[in-house]
Amino acid sequence: MTDIRKSIHGEWSSRFAFVLAATGSAVGLGNIWKFPYITGENGGGAFVIVYLGCVLAIGIPIMIAETMLGRRGRQSPINTMKTLTQEAGAESYWHYLGWLGVIAGFLILSYYSVIAGWAIAYVLKAVSGSFSSGDAAQISGLFDEFVKSPVQLVVWHSVFMIATMMVVARGVRGGLEKAVRFLMPSLLILLLLLVAYAMSTDAYQQGLDFMFNPDFSRITGDSVLTAMGHAFFTLSLGMGAIMVYGSYLPKNISIAKTSFLVAGADTAVALLAGIAIFPLVFANGLEPSAGPGLIFQTLPIAFGQMTGGLIFGTLFFILLVFAALSSSISLIEPAVAWLVENRDWSRKKACVLAGVFTWVFGLGTVFSFNIWSDFKLFDRNLFELLDYLTANLMLPLGGFFMAVFAGWIMHKQHAQEELQLDNISFKCWHFLVCYIAPAAVFLVFIHVIGVL
Ligand code: PFF
Repeated sequence: MTDIRKSIHGEWSSRFAFVLAATGSAVGLGNIWKFPYITGENGGGAFVIVYLGCVLAIGIPIMIAETMLGRRGRQSPINTMKTLTQEAGAESYWHYLGWLGVIAGFLILSYYSVIAGWAIAYVLKAVSGSFSSGDAAQISGLFDEFVKSPVQLVVWHSVFMIATMMVVARGVRGGLEKAVRFLMPSLLILLLLLVAYAMSTDAYQQGLDFMFNPDFSRITGDSVLTAMGHAFFTLSLGMGAIMVYGSYLPKNISIAKTSFLVAGADTAVALLAGIAIFPLVFANGLEPSAGPGLIFQTLPIAFGQMTGGLIFGTLFFILLVFAALSSSISLIEPAVAWLVENRDWSRKKACVLAGVFTWVFGLGTVFSFNIWSDFKLFDRNLFELLDYLTANLMLPLGGFFMAVFAGWIMHKQHAQEELQLDNISFKCWHFLVCYIAPAAVFLVFIHVIGVL
């Protein structure tokens, strides 16, 4: 039955291509920019343990479920959910799950692009030698000055959105696949180099202690929510990005194995980023809880001091931009695929429309760092609100319903047809998506709402 379903958008050329693309989507600003600063804000080790637990117990089972739903439906998430709902004979409202994802992707990309724009600006700062003069305080001060300028932020946000639209317009093989093939390996090499540098500083042990010595008194309900939300964010789960990539996955490729590979690579990159960054934070007397500017304030200090720092610094920020790009294309792909399927538009037209729409919305984030920085709701500026709403609420909610759909609504035999797991592994996965993952998300939610 599923053999007659074919994606009109094309397919990945191999298993390796899918793993690269999904890893490209997962590894991004979330690992290198966000993970260190939220770990810093939430007290370090204990937060890291909760996050790792969430990746294992919730993230991986849901990643398997989301990829499986995509490959079974073989369309944009909205239409995949429609088809699968009919196949399961379920109520038609399940396809709103696809819509929730498209909206979340659009909101995330609107701020993601602004932060990726910072990375582009930092490529130029690195190459022009801005990090090699001045002391630590001056170099980290560059960041505060930079984000105060709406014009600069708008320019770089625009450049990044245009780059995203250009890659997505080229399609699955020509655009997405080509872009990630050389990006991921190079990023890993550069991160290892930074870790080696961090090891040479006096504060290496202090950095490691901060990241791996848990102090559970620092954990609050909100930090558990942040850790869980981040597990979804960093693995690109709960909004259809992995679902749409799954829909381009050829048959006979093991979904479970690829999911473990992707989640493993993603986690490794986040931990390496933390190990590279915290020793530098302590060695230079900076605050681990500095917030979203953390890596932009700490890493340039290291680049300013190390031999070859001009080249490494430039390369690092270039790779960060590329890591962001391989994630941003997956944030917009569900919407583009839907526009192509339902409006009969060309990919180009769909990309331009979705991109311009997102760009306009991104201006809100730009201004939240300068002219609107005093505008706060629930004690958060617009960027913080968007981040909280999407990463902490919409993605876990989307993931919750995907798990429920895969575990309770879809016929078990259909899921097994796609997953092709041995009996015990299938039972294990099914138990996790039926009970553990939904229950965990539910419990964290009601705890935060204050019912527990
Ligand atoms: N996983 C990406 C990162 O860690 O930067 C961000 C992301 C991409 C989130 C795609 C959600 C998504 F669907």
